[in-house]
Amino acid sequence: MKNKRKVLKKVLKNKSVLLGVSGSVASYKAVDLIRRLREEGLSVTVVMTEAAGNFITRLSLEVASQNRVCTDLFSNPMAHITLPANADIFIVAPATANIIGKFANGIADDILSTCFLSFKGKVAIAPAMSWRIYENPFFQDNLKALLSRGVVQIGPDKGSLACGEEGMGKMADIATIVERIKSMLTKKDLQDEKVLVTAGPTREFIDPVRFISNRSSGKMGYSLAQAAFRRGAEVTLISGHSTLDRPDGVKFISVETSNDMLDAVNKEIESSTVFIMSAAVSDFMPLEMSEEKIEKSGELFLRLKQTPDIVSEVSKKRKRPFIIGFAAETGKHTERARRKLKEKNMDMIVFNDVTEPGSGFDADTNKVIIIDEEKETELPLLPKDSVADAILARMIEIRA
Ligand code: C5P
Repeated sequence: MKNKRKVLKKVLKNKSVLLGVSGSVASYKAVDLIRRLREEGLSVTVVMTEAAGNFITRLSLEVASQNRVCTDLFSNPMAHITLPANADIFIVAPATANIIGKFANGIADDILSTCFLSFKGKVAIAPAMSWRIYENPFFQDNLKALLSRGVVQIGPDKGSLACGEEGMGKMADIATIVERIKSMLTKKDLQDEKVLVTAGPTREFIDPVRFISNRSSGKMGYSLAQAAFRRGAEVTLISGHSTLDRPDGVKFISVETSNDMLDAVNKEIESSTVFIMSAAVSDFMPLEMSEEKIEKSGELFLRLKQTPDIVSEVSKKRKRPFIIGFAAETGKHTERARRKLKEKNMDMIVFNDVTEPGSGFDADTNKVIIIDEEKETELPLLPKDSVADAILARMIEIRA
């Protein structure tokens, strides 16, 4: 996915991560973390402790990062100054109780702890250890001391630990760490906004076990919710059935039918400043739902009626938020999207032709045209994350 790399590189362009790896069984996960960070367009330089060398080789980290890895204070005597000075963010993953203790007490007896003392920017730690150590009051005091100085804690999670016991101490998963780093590097230009996003398909029940729905996966809406949160907004996501992970930091409301979605939107809309209607509402619902499972016998005729038009209900309100809708069409019918923009009284509509390669349902990418009163902005085929950022950027531009 050459295009994905190129565009994300633009978002986080020229940003560099200094990654500290300390000695834990989770150290091997640093390779995957580096790969994911580089996919996001970030450059990564690693410093590792001697103890980390028991779990992972320097060579693995060098190959993954495509940069020299520093393991001691003296082979390159200026590294503890130059590496932190050239980094935008400093992340320690995994962070052991030992390295957290050193950080909290200003000890600088290895390359990693010395880099921490000389670094001037934002620092995040992803602790990994036994639950016994995690709960220890001496460790907790050290952790609190770091947090009180603005260090960001990512995880740990509860789970089965390397020692064979269950408890709190498992390093946060890589996707969570990457998302938090992206968030820390993102300008908070939606800080005072309350963004309400709908996503996914609705299900319109024929009987208790059967329903009418559509192929929407929810990916576009979930990306929008995550991108808005990353940019500092308070975000609520109302989602129809989806198998996606819930976005980090977002209030999540699960619904099934279009009527459920309308009710949930009505409850949340008063306090929202931006409404993004990316859900694929089933356009039709059965005229009536059978209370019992309908028996199979010969032909069945369904009578359908239209579902409530949620976006139109919202745009009729006297005090209405900024409204962004979507128009999924089969063919390049931008004129239809423009008509919907007017008829449904929205502020922006995102057009996409679902028959274009890489643009259909369930794809990780999308090729859209953002249409508003002033202009049409045609974007190339992009990952949905980048499409989400472009939509929010245009919204900010219009409202400025
Ligand atoms: O389905 P249509 O192309 O008319 O969708 C345009 C916009 O209207 C989309 O943002 C969609 O989520 C929204 N919509 C809605 N309620 C419906 C149907 C569509 O809010 N019943």
